[in-house]
Amino acid sequence: MTRLTILEYPDPRLRTRAVPVERVDAGLLRLVDDLFETMYAANGIGLAATQVDVHRRLLVVDVSGERSDPRVFIDPEILHREGAITGQEGCLSVPGYYDEVERAERIRVRALGRDGRPFEEELSGLLAVCVQHEIDHLDGRLFVDYLSELKRQRVRIRLEKERRQRADGQSTAPARVPAI
Ligand code: NI
Repeated sequence: MTRLTILEYPDPRLRTRAVPVERVDAGLLRLVDDLFETMYAANGIGLAATQVDVHRRLLVVDVSGERSDPRVFIDPEILHREGAITGQEGCLSVPGYYDEVERAERIRVRALGRDGRPFEEELSGLLAVCVQHEIDHLDGRLFVDYLSELKRQRVRIRLEKERRQRADGQSTAPARVPAI
């Protein structure tokens, strides 16, 4: 398995709309394994292919906190949304920044699984939030898009400063809560 490089905001490649996978083959399954490897190494709970500069509709999540519930959604589609939930979100592509976002509390999703077969599932709570966040990535959208322009500008400035500090060899503070 290979650890891939995660694109960071405001990299314009994060704005690419991913295209359907349609066929699950050996190359795609290698990519699934690499996404999990990359997500776990970064202490994330979700990762979309878009974030590693592969623009195909594929995402992985594991909200168990102990790497025991890996899930794969290929060509995911939200069929139904219900309720609303507001919580703190972070993102591996916006490191170190967290803010409140409102999402549907429950969703019904259709996707292809690792075996290439279609399935439908009702998701709720953190798993539902995570899948909505990752599908946004596949559409070129980031959670900071839900914030005000002023906040987005502050995030950009802070990330650019932190990138400069990293380039200078100074360490930055580790993430507080898992990012998706
Ligand atoms: Ni994210």
